[in-house]
Amino acid sequence: MPDSTYDFGLIGLGVMGRNFILNVANNGFKAFGYDLDHEKVNALKKEGGDLAKVDASDDINIFLNSLSLPRKIMLLVPAGKIVDNVIESLLPLLKKDDIIIDGGNSLFTDTDRREAYLKSKGIHFFGAGVSGGAKGARKGPSIMPGGSKEAYKEVQPIFEAVAAKFNNEPCVAYLGPKSAGNYVKMIHNGIEYGLMQLTSEMYFILKNAGKLTNDELHKAFDSWNRGRLQSFLVEITSEVLSKEDDLADGRLVDKILDKAKQKGTGKWTSQNAMDLGIPIPSIDIAVSMREISALKAERLEAENIYGKLQPAAIDKASLLKIAEEALYFSFIITYAQGLHQLAEASREYQYGLNLASIAKIWRAGCIIRAGLLDDITEAYKENRQLANLLLAPSFVKKLKETVPSVRTLVTYAATNGIPMPGLSNSLTYFDAYSSGRLPLNLIQAQRDYFGSHTYERTDREGIFHTEWGE
Ligand code: 6PG
Repeated sequence: MPDSTYDFGLIGLGVMGRNFILNVANNGFKAFGYDLDHEKVNALKKEGGDLAKVDASDDINIFLNSLSLPRKIMLLVPAGKIVDNVIESLLPLLKKDDIIIDGGNSLFTDTDRREAYLKSKGIHFFGAGVSGGAKGARKGPSIMPGGSKEAYKEVQPIFEAVAAKFNNEPCVAYLGPKSAGNYVKMIHNGIEYGLMQLTSEMYFILKNAGKLTNDELHKAFDSWNRGRLQSFLVEITSEVLSKEDDLADGRLVDKILDKAKQKGTGKWTSQNAMDLGIPIPSIDIAVSMREISALKAERLEAENIYGKLQPAAIDKASLLKIAEEALYFSFIITYAQGLHQLAEASREYQYGLNLASIAKIWRAGCIIRAGLLDDITEAYKENRQLANLLLAPSFVKKLKETVPSVRTLVTYAATNGIPMPGLSNSLTYFDAYSSGRLPLNLIQAQRDYFGSHTYERTDREGIFHTEWGE
């Protein structure tokens, strides 16, 4: 008879699952894993060492009978149909009040559907975004759970123990009902796309216009990471730039094909922003750039037609200075857009999100962790109703100080044919958001002209229509 004393169950013993369950066991909880693949089961048993602390099986009944009630079962399986299949196979075997936690990057609307379905069967369902990759899963990820608050209490001690810590505070918090957790993780990934695009643009201009060597690039990102740009993505960029190639001479980064893949979370962020009517151009363009990158053959053909521009000489030291300022500025703008979307989603989907607490749990463990998030946390603590980070007094100074360098860099890039769409979109967003009057009056006039769509006036109340033209 199996020992029903394991505190935590995990289905899907791939890289993320194996690391996560070992993290749970390391923190003093008894954990049991399940996977159909016998080799993965054995690998975990071997790595876990003490079977009384971490065990695994490829038999679903042994797995379920090993868990204490209510069972806490986390799924770390690929998002999509597989999640539904696993749920269906578990359902007949579960008991009332058991808890299923989906730790994958599931689409939030799928989470809503699953939560409602499982509620009707007496099962609690949690969508919990887990960020930090394999290393994070093992050493401390940032966890973004959403679902029933009551059920969260059951998993809270485990999540708090395994999550990354920032100033001794765990990077996990109950975020809200239904799909709040998966939604927040989706926005995390949208921001991740934006920051990665911006970082790659800085690398590109420093390399191609500033003519920095890989060593100089490595040093630049390393020194930025020691300043206000301190962040996981800047840190790993500096490491990537110094990595030697195992298969050929030189640095590996120079041999990697410039086509970026995507699994969809960035695209979902953009699609949902359109649905909500929230502008996130720094994130949208990051998705588009992955799409443009995929058109390698066409890009090469077009390069032959239009030619390569030779960037005008630019002083390395001044380029480095303006690039640091521009990256800082555009990082802020990207977080601002993601947080704006979160605020609107919170209203639209009644998540009741606390943006300070979200920024707080992003300060360690996750891919977008950055020193900046501490300042963002403070800004939202000061004003829970903050409409946009651009309006937070502590950020006004940072943006005013750095925007001149952004203008210089965008001008240089545009003049010299260097694509910096993330940076220029961030600047345009800033300029548009801070323009009291935009030319959209003309768009209203055009709409009314051809479609009688009516318009409002600046000098009197009401809805107006004009018979334009002849
Ligand atoms: C994380 C990452 C993780 C994954 C991305 C990659 O937070 O740990 O975001 O979830 O690496 O989903 O996304 P793409 O394959 O779309 O770049």
